[in-house]
Amino acid sequence: MSIALIVLAAGQGTRMNSDLPKVLHRLAAAPLFVHALAAAAPLEPARRILVVGHGGAAVRKAAATFDPEVEIAEQAEQLGTGHAVAQAMPLLAGFEGRVIVLFGDTPFIRPETLAALAEARADVTVLGFEAADPGRYGRLVTADGALDRIVEWKDATEAERAIRLCNSGVLAADARLLGDLVAGLSNDNAAGEYYLTDVVAAARRRGLSAEVVLCDEAETLGINTRAELARAEALFQARARAGAMEDGVTLTAPETVFFAFDTAIGRDAIVGPNVIFGPGVTIESGAEIKGFCHLEGCHVSRGATVGPFARLRPGAELAEDVHVGNFVEIKNAQLDEGAKVGHLTYLGDAHVGEHANIGAGTVTCNYDGVMKHRTEIGARAFIGSDTMLVAPVKVGAGALTASGSVITQDVPAEALAVARARQETKPGLAARLFEKLRAEKARRSKKD
Ligand code: UD1
Ligand code: CA
Repeated sequence: MSIALIVLAAGQGTRMNSDLPKVLHRLAAAPLFVHALAAAAPLEPARRILVVGHGGAAVRKAAATFDPEVEIAEQAEQLGTGHAVAQAMPLLAGFEGRVIVLFGDTPFIRPETLAALAEARADVTVLGFEAADPGRYGRLVTADGALDRIVEWKDATEAERAIRLCNSGVLAADARLLGDLVAGLSNDNAAGEYYLTDVVAAARRRGLSAEVVLCDEAETLGINTRAELARAEALFQARARAGAMEDGVTLTAPETVFFAFDTAIGRDAIVGPNVIFGPGVTIESGAEIKGFCHLEGCHVSRGATVGPFARLRPGAELAEDVHVGNFVEIKNAQLDEGAKVGHLTYLGDAHVGEHANIGAGTVTCNYDGVMKHRTEIGARAFIGSDTMLVAPVKVGAGALTASGSVITQDVPAEALAVARARQETKPGLAARLFEKLRAEKARRSKKD
């Protein structure tokens, strides 16, 4: 069956005390709403709609970056969760299938839970949980196993507040039915809001069925404050570390490694202490990332070694058995099999051929202040220590640059390029110079 997703993300999140709309705060290097979308990704929803309000322009921009196919519905005024869903429904006119409504600030719903919701047979299905402390959650009122209605805490009687079965906020219904039901909502309640939760009672009045799918309370954890965001980050990282180890990755000091929402690491890879993964990193089996590395938007192939203290930025692609050593930064550069760049180097907008060797202190001068330019280094080339490669420039296969060279012209294959001042040697001059300096120092200390 076709699935459409509606993610509610219009609220400001007052308790974050932030200029940023709540759903743009990051968990594991991705805005909160991306986690809600990701949880539903295995269901392969045909449509994904984000309802935006506060900071709408910024949310749109982030949505375009993280999920360009996401559709945006505008909710100019936040009149309640039911009103928010109603703003998305016109986009689904003619859509045949089931709609799942999620909250953009609830990042831990498991894909398996959403699958159970998608498969449920009732006309309206609500994701509920048994709360340890039900607090101010909406309560699920059931009779003979069926869901009768949801009552918001503000509107609940003492007896209803005693119910432990709570509303997660996630709900599923047939698209056309949901459109009808939200169009008929009223805001005659304690909050003066159009409650999405009222669609349950409305469906039952029409003689339709409603049921509850249960999940673990931990899945429904919503983020409202910076402290909750920090706790959510810790929880995410703890799970990511455990997951990586279960997948056969060695983490020398797991509690010091930080994963992004999409980090992918192959079996028998080794990750040392204090390694940070930004978004878009894939590490193949058997690669080793030594301590204190920072990686983002890069690919590290089988058998490659990186670090300690290396930085791989977006577009860094290391082929098999590449070696990247300490204090090396690589950005938008492809290193072919067996290339070595051991120390103190910047490679940006470059291609390095197989088994080339890049000496310590090499810099690709890729930026002229206005534009970026590429550097091409051929297979088995040997770049001498402290070479400046002023791009655009090519060094051919098997060529060599002398240490300390500033290379501004292409170097043909197998040529040797020297581009530095010729050395002058003055016999005895150092000794005479030091003698003069020491005499001067002695004269000065006598005066004092
Ligand atoms: C909601 C549920 C409650 C449930 C709880 C679980 C309703 C009426 N109540 O209450 O039963 O126990 O979630 O956490 O649905 N939003 C919009 N536009 C709006 C209002 C809200 O986009 O006009 C978004 C918010 O940004 C947020 C989500 O919807 O992501 C939930 O809204 P919130 O006001 O936090 O609902 P609760 O009062 O917590
Ligand atoms: Ca809430």
